[in-house]
Amino acid sequence: MKIVKTIQEVRNEVKSWRKEGLTVGLVPTMGYLHEGHKSLIDRAVSECDRVVVSDFVNPMQFGPTEDLASYPRDIDADAKLCEAAGANLIFHPEPEEMYKDGFCSFVDMTGLTNALCGLSRPVHFRGVCTVVSKLFNIVQPDKAYFGEKDAQQLAVVKRMVKDLNMPLEIVGCPIIREADGLAKSSRNTYLSEEGRKQAVILSKSIFLGKKMVEDGERDPEKVKKAMRDLIETQPMAKIDYVEIVDNTTMQSIEKIEGEILCAIAVKIGDEARLIDNFILKI
Ligand code: PAF
Repeated sequence: MKIVKTIQEVRNEVKSWRKEGLTVGLVPTMGYLHEGHKSLIDRAVSECDRVVVSDFVNPMQFGPTEDLASYPRDIDADAKLCEAAGANLIFHPEPEEMYKDGFCSFVDMTGLTNALCGLSRPVHFRGVCTVVSKLFNIVQPDKAYFGEKDAQQLAVVKRMVKDLNMPLEIVGCPIIREADGLAKSSRNTYLSEEGRKQAVILSKSIFLGKKMVEDGERDPEKVKKAMRDLIETQPMAKIDYVEIVDNTTMQSIEKIEGEILCAIAVKIGDEARLIDNFILKI
């Protein structure tokens, strides 16, 4: 497995695979890889002849007061995980390689991004859409793999690919959880011992909401209230949002029907802002 830092090296590698008629999968990541990322790489390896993992903490998707500087990084550990999982290439560029002097072109979206994380992180999805488009143009994969933990990101990327006629398939992969239910995230490393204990309230509230809907509750307000009440039992937990939306449009719904996304974002003290969700088809 190779690690390369330039766009030209990626292009050369992919070109040689294409000459052999091989298919290519891309797993876009910001590094500090965990079991969740590994599940994406495993899926890509099982479906594609060659797999590229991009490992790039994208400055453009962080707001000015967010955690760009402290975001965890460990390329050596990432390389080991990728190698063991059977990836063929890691693309690990410097920000200057991705955003050359004078960079001023962006991919942006309306509608889907004016909800959930898009409200509390106003520049986030513009940064995600821009970097993901660039990665698609650089690698030109047949398929790209994204986690369902970032459910809004997955919906946004699917919409962008459809709207802009990008010639690849987007594959969503299930959330991977710790033994106690907490969704795996690179940001879990920010948690203190006490914060980690209290953070399990996210998945507990997700499991509660899911059970209520599975048991027949169709009023989103009742489900959201029960989830909020449960989250608020933890003194460190500060709710950013608890929402139930249509899983394609990301807009609020008055009755639970069709394919719904129930998504939450919760701050644990000043340690970390974590997200979790469930998707159900009624
Ligand atoms: O989900 C992530 O880690 C990032 O948002 C992505 C898709 C790699 C873009 O930087």
